[in-house]
Amino acid sequence: MAEPKKLFIKTYGCQMNVYDSERMAEAMGGAGYVETDTADDADMILLNTCHIREKAAEKVYSELGRFRELKDVKPDLKIGVAGCVAQAEGEEIMRRQPLVDLVVGPQSYHRLPQMEAKTREGQKALDTDFPLDDKFDTLRTRAKAKRGPTAFLTVQEGCDKFCAFCVVPYTRGAEVSRPADRILEEARELVDRGVREITLLGQNVNAYHGAGADGDLTLAQLIWQLDKIDGLARIRFTTSHPNDMAEDLIEAHGTCDKLMPYLHLPVQSGSDKILKRMNRSHTADSYLRLIERIRAARPDILMSGDFIVGFPEETEEDFQATMDLIEEVNYGYAYSFKYSTRPGTPAAERPQVDEDVKSDRLQRLQALITRQQRAAQEAMVGRIVNVLFEKPGRFEWQMVGKSDYLHAVHVTESDIQSGDILPVKIVGSSANSLSGEVLRQAAE
Ligand code: 5AD
Ligand code: SF4
Repeated sequence: MAEPKKLFIKTYGCQMNVYDSERMAEAMGGAGYVETDTADDADMILLNTCHIREKAAEKVYSELGRFRELKDVKPDLKIGVAGCVAQAEGEEIMRRQPLVDLVVGPQSYHRLPQMEAKTREGQKALDTDFPLDDKFDTLRTRAKAKRGPTAFLTVQEGCDKFCAFCVVPYTRGAEVSRPADRILEEARELVDRGVREITLLGQNVNAYHGAGADGDLTLAQLIWQLDKIDGLARIRFTTSHPNDMAEDLIEAHGTCDKLMPYLHLPVQSGSDKILKRMNRSHTADSYLRLIERIRAARPDILMSGDFIVGFPEETEEDFQATMDLIEEVNYGYAYSFKYSTRPGTPAAERPQVDEDVKSDRLQRLQALITRQQRAAQEAMVGRIVNVLFEKPGRFEWQMVGKSDYLHAVHVTESDIQSGDILPVKIVGSSANSLSGEVLRQAAE
């Protein structure tokens, strides 16, 4: 078998970009790529750019210039620009920097494999579908352009938390919530276009406090308004901060049928010393107690989290506390990162942990998370779960979708449409997905 090709993604800016990079890696995984963390051995380099920092575009050009030598020794290397700078000045990038093979805007990441194939034929690939104007309207266009039964809907942006490692409060600015009526109107439009699942998006989504008819709404109140929309079947939200996990939101997880049993609740570290230095304003214990309350409301909820290893001055003991917390919570999914300095943030000035120590810790943490993730997936075998089908799979008659718990599920059936929600008996679990049989026939 051929060696898998290697993809190096460099991510700038905010949390949204971090997730987008994961999505790009996922999409390219389907095209036979594995991720690498050095540009040197990559077959493809993607810069996931952020437009908010000053001189962002100039920085992208200087970064791209550095890849010239690499491309000289490796002519097959493909170089792409993604993210907000790509969106804003796609054609200009192509013109100014001939090294660039591909430019892709944030709404087109699912098309990356086709675009990559085009570059392998020696062509340039550009896909930036919408103009960048007012940021919410832009996101709205993005939601409009989205096909398929699932959609993201931005409800809030920015963050006032100032975690010591994070650039979001500086780049995206203070927390701003959109008025509820705009969100509800947009949700109805999405549902009219066939969307059945909406994920409410925000850097600090559970801090939502948008204006409603009778004063500000909490995120839970917004969810209950969305719950009334006929045709909308599923509601999710991401990303939450533990300190904003209000009682009414916890309760909604137990009582709102449309709110899915999956919660992304980053904790970053299990060491109180590190949490304090991160300016997280919660402790490991308060986080664990919070999860107890959430699980009391919705016992089968699947928890997911974010972790940073190698934060400045993190000792082996601190790291162990993170591992202990992971053991205790038992996550169904997690994103984990080596701490990396972001200029201008307080942690960038602190004494740094060695790179190889970070790598070692990341590896151990990911091994633990992978075990938990696999166990959570395997526990689904034999169960009947609802699946929202999204698109055809790789094989004939195969359809893939997501369970309530966000597990990818595939079935082989001839008459399933994108947008169908059907009960599926899970029969198998592989590395990243479940396989099942639709129960429709059995029920007849
Ligand atoms: N270094 C490593 N990881 C970071 N994250 C945010 N900033 C940094 C950084 N400087 C991670 C956090 C956050 C996720 C979106 O990205 O875990 O929750
Ligand atoms: Fe960044 Fe912390 Fe705000 Fe999350 S809560 S966006 S990590 S500052």
